[in-house]
Amino acid sequence: MPRAQKVIRFGVIGLGLMGREFGSAAARWCHLLNLDFVPQITAICDTNEKLWEWFDSNFDTIKLCTTNYQDLLDSDEVDAIYCAVPHNLHAQVYTDIIKAGKHLLGEKPFGIDLEANDQILAMLHQHPNTVVRCSSEFPFFPGPQRVVKYVNEGRFGQIIEVASGLLHSSDLDPNKKINWKRMVAVNGEYGCMGDLGMHPLHIPIRLGWTPSNVRAMLSNIVKERPDASGKLVPCETWDNATLVCEVNTVEQDFPMTIQTYRIAPGETNTWYIRVTGTRFSVEYSTKYPKTLKIMEYTPGKEQAWQHIDLGYETPYPTITGGIFEFGFSDGLLQMWAAFCDELTNGRQGMKQPFYCATPDETGIHHRILTAALESGKHGQVVEVKQE
Ligand SMILES: NC(=O)c1ccc[n+]([C@@H]2O[C@H](COP(=O)([O-])OP(=O)(O)OC[C@H]3O[C@@H](n4cnc5c(N)ncnc54)[C@H](O)[C@@H]3O)[C@@H](O)[C@H]2O)c1
Repeated sequence: MPRAQKVIRFGVIGLGLMGREFGSAAARWCHLLNLDFVPQITAICDTNEKLWEWFDSNFDTIKLCTTNYQDLLDSDEVDAIYCAVPHNLHAQVYTDIIKAGKHLLGEKPFGIDLEANDQILAMLHQHPNTVVRCSSEFPFFPGPQRVVKYVNEGRFGQIIEVASGLLHSSDLDPNKKINWKRMVAVNGEYGCMGDLGMHPLHIPIRLGWTPSNVRAMLSNIVKERPDASGKLVPCETWDNATLVCEVNTVEQDFPMTIQTYRIAPGETNTWYIRVTGTRFSVEYSTKYPKTLKIMEYTPGKEQAWQHIDLGYETPYPTITGGIFEFGFSDGLLQMWAAFCDELTNGRQGMKQPFYCATPDETGIHHRILTAALESGKHGQVVEVKQE
């Protein structure tokens, strides 16, 4: 007898790179064990009709294919939406989704800029019963989960420094064609920070490490790229950003560095975090997905880093053996489980405590990026607007 599972009927808006990743996660829900909820894709929308075929041929639950997302919002067959569209559309589409009373997992950066993010959060305040969260999967990897646990256990003594980042490298190729992520009008003025920033900022924000100020160094390294026809056109977005932040908590002050790089030679989607402290330090990078580095320190004793192979240690249990490696699509699956869990059981009833990034957390990340953009332009330290 199959377990009684609540079916959450999903509409997907935006069937590109990330839309398909959600399709794949929903298709292998049986990977997860003992859950009382399951997503089912009932409706899809993309202005590019050619993208319907992959979904339609892989999911026999789809009842609606459309180029107009409003059709999904009007549909009784849709409880929740996954939305993965370019940044210039976030404010309009997300506010329409929330206004229609559909639950939403929306892609980062949750608005092309702070003003757009404010509009989404204002609509949410009028509809407080809709469950709205932002996609951010890296914190669901085994390593980052340990980092959060260690911080919550207060292991570090005085924190010396925090560093986190997301590094890409394909833009090192000057012949790579321009796409919407390299256009200010569609991706946003934040450039690489808007595209990548939620990833390294999610855990620091969750841990209460919102900086009071930031000094950002922004680089536009490749200033022209070929368009689809091969003609060179301006590429105006920031390629790389280093944010040096001052964090002041009740207990202590420390520096935090956030890197969002499109041009980090050799790196393919490397997400990392390092927290060093006077009694304990930890470091994790997706470059070595099962390896966690820790260093415990007793004054006067030797300093030695330990490397632990975490294997497949997940927030939600799965069929995979503990010795195997965890990867990007596994992080997404765990994030999806957290979203559906919160939707079904509420925050207090979740089967594990780590919930998806909240709209308020996206607001904090926008205030940090807005200050960073100003800092980078004027070469000054800029205060991060507090709530
Ligand atoms: N969480 C992650 O790791 C991650 C990774 C990559 C991208 N993203 C985010 O996902 C979102 C989408 O990025 P992507 O890489 O999937 O982009 P993409 O270009 O591959 O897909 C976007 C899709 O949206 C469709 N679209 C555009 N306008 C539309 C409209 N009005 N109605 C319906 N569909 C429309 C496009 O045709 C395209 O298929 C962005 O917010 C991006 O920042 C997140």
